[in-house]
Amino acid sequence: MSIFRSLQTILIFLLFYFIYSFFIYTQEAESIAANKIITPLAYEGRLVFQKYNCISCHQLYGLGGYLGTDLTNVISKKGAYYVSAVIKNGMLKMPNLNVEDKEIIALIEFLSFVDSSGVSPVIEFETEWYGIITPKTKK
Ligand code: HEC
Repeated sequence: MSIFRSLQTILIFLLFYFIYSFFIYTQEAESIAANKIITPLAYEGRLVFQKYNCISCHQLYGLGGYLGTDLTNVISKKGAYYVSAVIKNGMLKMPNLNVEDKEIIALIEFLSFVDSSGVSPVIEFETEWYGIITPKTKK
């Protein structure tokens, strides 16, 4: 094989390499959570969550205090009306923190955002004998 042939082959490989890299690096990464931008109201709710120190008793994504429950998916599990009612009035060991109505609306928006961003506790998976991985269903 002549030297020009080898050079030609190398150049063609390089060309394909650059075209391939171009597509890989310019493709938009698909991630539902990462593309989500927190809304101003949800951000306000985050500040309210910090103001009343809800995290001292509750967890988000499994982290926080353990007197109360994990609030990561409370909106989809129990609904916004239930959550507003609990925050407004307190419940058994949950104190009535005198949160203003305006702040509750922001809190609900924040908790909905958290809910859409992940699940807690983290789903466990199991591998079937034939190689398929499925989420463990425990209710
Ligand atoms: C002093 C600790 C404490 C603080 C602070 C606290 N909570 Fe709670 N919360 C609890 C406890 C304990 C419960 C469970 C009540 C029960 O069932 O007896 C609870 C229950 C709840 C529930 C209902 C959960 C469910 O699954 O039924 C929601 C929603 C909630 N709290 C939201 C909040 C928010 C939002 C804040 C901050 C504004 C907050 N809590 C601050 C202790 C606290």
